[in-house]
Amino acid sequence: TPAPETLLLGQILDFTSDPFEGAPQDSARHLSRGGIVIRGGKIIEIGPAARLIETHGTARRVDYGAALLLPGFVDAHAHYPQTGIIASWGKRLIDWLEGYTFPEESRFGDPVYAATIAGRYLDLVIAHGTTTVATFCTSHPASVTAMFQAAQARGMAVVAGKVGMDRNAPDALKDSPERAYDESKALLKRWHKQGRSRYAITPRFTPTSSEAQLEAMGALWAEHPDCAMQTHLSEQVEEIAWVKELCPTAEDYLATYDKHGLIGPGALFGHAIHLTPRERARLAESGSAVIHCPTSNTFIGSGVFDAAGLAAEGIQVGLATDTGGGSSFSMLRTMGAAYEISQLNGAVLHPAHLLWLATAGSARALRMEAEVGTLAPGSAADIIALDLASTPAIAQRAARARDIWEALFPTMMMGDDRAVKAVWVGGVSRR
Ligand code: GUN
Ligand code: ZN
Repeated sequence: TPAPETLLLGQILDFTSDPFEGAPQDSARHLSRGGIVIRGGKIIEIGPAARLIETHGTARRVDYGAALLLPGFVDAHAHYPQTGIIASWGKRLIDWLEGYTFPEESRFGDPVYAATIAGRYLDLVIAHGTTTVATFCTSHPASVTAMFQAAQARGMAVVAGKVGMDRNAPDALKDSPERAYDESKALLKRWHKQGRSRYAITPRFTPTSSEAQLEAMGALWAEHPDCAMQTHLSEQVEEIAWVKELCPTAEDYLATYDKHGLIGPGALFGHAIHLTPRERARLAESGSAVIHCPTSNTFIGSGVFDAAGLAAEGIQVGLATDTGGGSSFSMLRTMGAAYEISQLNGAVLHPAHLLWLATAGSARALRMEAEVGTLAPGSAADIIALDLASTPAIAQRAARARDIWEALFPTMMMGDDRAVKAVWVGGVSRR
């Protein structure tokens, strides 16, 4: 007998093109009454509800009414070990790392603690409608094992890796070039492409990775080019000055990675706010991605990211919470913050840009666009149902909407986990 089918019913928004390449309001198709057929963990078909009810009459039906069915959100940069220190007051990047982050990360050598936080973090992101994350772990291999085990227990496609850091950090977190290489390689062999898991080679950033360590990470990536590579770039001006001091002969911050092959398709540069024209040109021609972390950029006081300008130059852009430098687990709140930053930047993003960044854009940056961030047949059944009237304040505004973008935007600006009515991960209902 064939695998059972499920037919999800509701409103649907489905991108047909990249909203940064044409008129954003025309980049998606809207079905006011649509359906998605799922079978064996995948999306089989998408279309008008009436037709699918007729052609898939035996499918189990789950009707979400006026709720909006979307791909689960893809958070392209997070630090799951910082779950417990999110929303810590009063510091900028470097003293925030020293005062809050490094002490907390030092606890993740304990596999029991790591498993507790990994499970808590993934349950929180699912509750907020996120079905894929690219997360840093800590320098302890146990922190990586805990994350992949928690992800597999929930059927999630997660990108994760051991942080390499061998200088300017407490001893409890420091590894070495050799250990970073050996431990990363062992974890990569154990987890990369096991089920839905993907490994990311993860040098924290130049201030905490020596040249020898960056070289070792570059060598490992050259041996395993289908892994991702995630790090940080030009987040805060003090950080850039520090890199200049540590690497006086480097042309700029990006060059410290480029020199060791840490650039190209699959490279994910978190933040990327204060870039020179040369760095922007090199990011574009290399096919690298930059990941916008708007709640973090305002929370730590980092600066104004240029999403529209970078996309127009052909640089791939993804969107992320940067938990716990970011102040939210919610990609809805993150889209709202990206809108606010775009106002400061003077190139205002349309709701279609925001939704695309939180789904297909982040998925493309991760080179997972065939599997996640989309409702296309053949992709994973990672689907959410959003209530566009989840609070009285949102409902009274959405009631006046003249089109789907105007109906969705109040939830982007004012919504939270109360808007997330349902979450399907790999065809399994998880909320
Ligand atoms: N740069 C290096 N490490 C970190 C981190 O953990 N969070 C943020 N926001 N920036 C970083
Ligand atoms: Zn980060």
